[in-house]
Amino acid sequence: MADHQLISTAVHDRLPENYVRPETQRPRLDEVVPDADIPVVDLANSDRAAVVAQIGQACRTHGFFQVLNHGVPVELMLAMLGVAYEFFQLPAEEKAKLYSDDPAKKIRLSTSFNVRKETVHNWRDYLRLHCHPLHKYVPEWPANPPSFREIVSRYCKEVRELGFRLYGAISESLGLEQEYMKKVLGEQEQHMAVNFYPKCPSPELTYGLPAHTDPNALTILLMDQQVAGLQVLKEGRWIAVNPRPNALVINIGDQLQALSNGRYKSVWHRAVVNSDRPRMSVASFLCPCNDVVLGPAAKLISEESPAVYRDYTYAEYYSKFWSRNLDQEHCLELFRT
Ligand code: OGA
Ligand code: NI
Repeated sequence: MADHQLISTAVHDRLPENYVRPETQRPRLDEVVPDADIPVVDLANSDRAAVVAQIGQACRTHGFFQVLNHGVPVELMLAMLGVAYEFFQLPAEEKAKLYSDDPAKKIRLSTSFNVRKETVHNWRDYLRLHCHPLHKYVPEWPANPPSFREIVSRYCKEVRELGFRLYGAISESLGLEQEYMKKVLGEQEQHMAVNFYPKCPSPELTYGLPAHTDPNALTILLMDQQVAGLQVLKEGRWIAVNPRPNALVINIGDQLQALSNGRYKSVWHRAVVNSDRPRMSVASFLCPCNDVVLGPAAKLISEESPAVYRDYTYAEYYSKFWSRNLDQEHCLELFRT
């Protein structure tokens, strides 16, 4: 396969033409709000009602929040980022074996977002893995670096547990029973995107990932602690999310926006690149199984608040998502009642 498409295997002195966005679509980095206060929730707070209220508030106002004392060991977070860097430093031949641009593949190393569909590419390489159940997928994961499978498996387990705890709090914050999300979303799939954004010669002309919303239910993002790049759209302005030491970043995906009948927002976000340092992020996506039927929770539908979205299966949603370009309208708009 065309491994030359990976940007992490070569040194670039100038940005290739097919990464340059037209003038009107550039990131306008000088207009970004530099020091955003996205909500921070301390999960060690013993006042559960307060935690639930903070999470509910964050889901309404930002769709994004950071969690502290989240239970995922800090050493494991660092080990995860470390092994991710090692992976992207493997020799080109080794990486070429894993390359694919077929979104249906469960294990693949790829580049940009959807190279088959897009006309302008993004300054990102990524390794995408299915992670649940682990015993099914781990044997297909990269065997190099040698510690990859062990570290990533441990990280996946911890993150899954955190995700389920958050489902409890998010359900409660909507006035639903604590088990609601976990029950309706079914036996959740778990996917991981290990995103590598190499140093970019012209960061003002391109993106790591252009504006998008996440199509899944809940995303848990582990960010490089030294290099920022994630930005979130709030009231028409892009705000930079500065990594807090030891925090994980949580965001509501499209499926929770639908289940909440639009009360919680799956917010537009993007990753920008820089010319000084490469950046890594590890996104863990919890997502419903393909045959799960999704739509607004019955308890959140009333005469005053009619269903905003119709019911649909996750399979239908996911195939719609991947058939589009990232920077089109919100995918959920296509599922309105
Ligand atoms: C994603 C994503 C942001 C980042 O992978 O969906 O939004 O900072 N990543 O890498
Ligand atoms: Ni995302």
